[in-house]
Amino acid sequence: MRILSVVGARPQFVKLAPIAQAMEGKAEHLIVHTGQHYDEMMSDVFFTDLGIPTPDFNLGVGSGKHGKQTGAMLGGLEEIFEEVRPDWVLVYGDTNSTLAAAVAAVKIHVPLAHLEAGLRSFNRRMPEEHNRVLTDHASDLLLAPTEVAMQHLATEGLADRSVLVGDVMTDVLFRTRAAVQSRTEALPSGVEPGNYYISTIHRPDNTDDPVRLKQIVDSLASLDRPVVLLAHPRLVDLARRHGLELETGAVRVASPLAYPQLINAVMNSVGVITDSGGLQKEAFLLRVPCTTIRPETEWVETVELGWNVLVSENLTSLASVVQRPTPDPTTAAPYGTGEAAGAVVSALLEQR
Ligand code: UD1
Repeated sequence: MRILSVVGARPQFVKLAPIAQAMEGKAEHLIVHTGQHYDEMMSDVFFTDLGIPTPDFNLGVGSGKHGKQTGAMLGGLEEIFEEVRPDWVLVYGDTNSTLAAAVAAVKIHVPLAHLEAGLRSFNRRMPEEHNRVLTDHASDLLLAPTEVAMQHLATEGLADRSVLVGDVMTDVLFRTRAAVQSRTEALPSGVEPGNYYISTIHRPDNTDDPVRLKQIVDSLASLDRPVVLLAHPRLVDLARRHGLELETGAVRVASPLAYPQLINAVMNSVGVITDSGGLQKEAFLLRVPCTTIRPETEWVETVELGWNVLVSENLTSLASVVQRPTPDPTTAAPYGTGEAAGAVVSALLEQR
């Protein structure tokens, strides 16, 4: 069986790693990189560190407005799908690369499987929400990470195409955690292990409006410990355009980290403050308290179990939320036990 994975953005490389490994000896696995993310620290290091094979195709589309970026991918992917004629196109998560591959595949009748199906924020301002809803409804096989995702798919009439496989990010996180446990990565000067927060902010709703971004930076600046702000290129670019200094008060600006270094940095932190989807879950799996700067989350289990608190409008409360007491311990495993990639490959082999 020939399976073609399409990835393009940082969180997709993380999800691809355990899948590529689980495919070995089971199926012919080819990889397309759309080029949505292209900086070394946003792309190449993930392939190197996580042992992902070099992509068979790279479209090199780069940055652009949604329409132009997605359209460039659509044209390029159609040609590749026609050439390769895979038994499955496998798409990941909710980025523009996901949607482009989904549309390209179904138009030429190539079977489509969606990994991380069924997640919903119900926030229609998010480009990712449209990407995931449209991709789910186009797909022939929906690979859901959680029970909640399965319920969303059933509500939308998609139960007969859905399979609960678990979360592949748990697979890669557990493997990496074991490898980096004894290490202490270099931190910005003046930042001590066990006495800092890790932060990432990149969503359009948090970065595009100068007033909103300044409020977020000011609330991070007022925290009681250093805040290592791992700055996504979108954040750096917009802060410069808004004339906003990021390194202020408690905030120490640093470049994005490679995956093992990120996991190590979170493990040695006292808390995470983020608007990333993946990082909320990584914090939970590492049992580090998380504060999410968004009005809602797809990963509702992290909130229900007390390890994640949402802050959106009332940013003046950020310090008291971040500096809250450590939540009660839990042995709950809503994201599985690290064997999801094998379940994904089995489902793909069985359903064709
Ligand atoms: C994308 C995904 C988002 C995901 C995020 C992870 C969509 C709609 N959004 O958002 O779901 O959480 O990736 O990082 O697909 N840039 C660089 N170098 C790079 C990549 C991007 O400088 O390697 C800059 C671009 O110039 C652009 C900005 O970052 O201005 C945004 O990149 P884009 O891929 O469009 O979206 P993200 O915000 O990264």
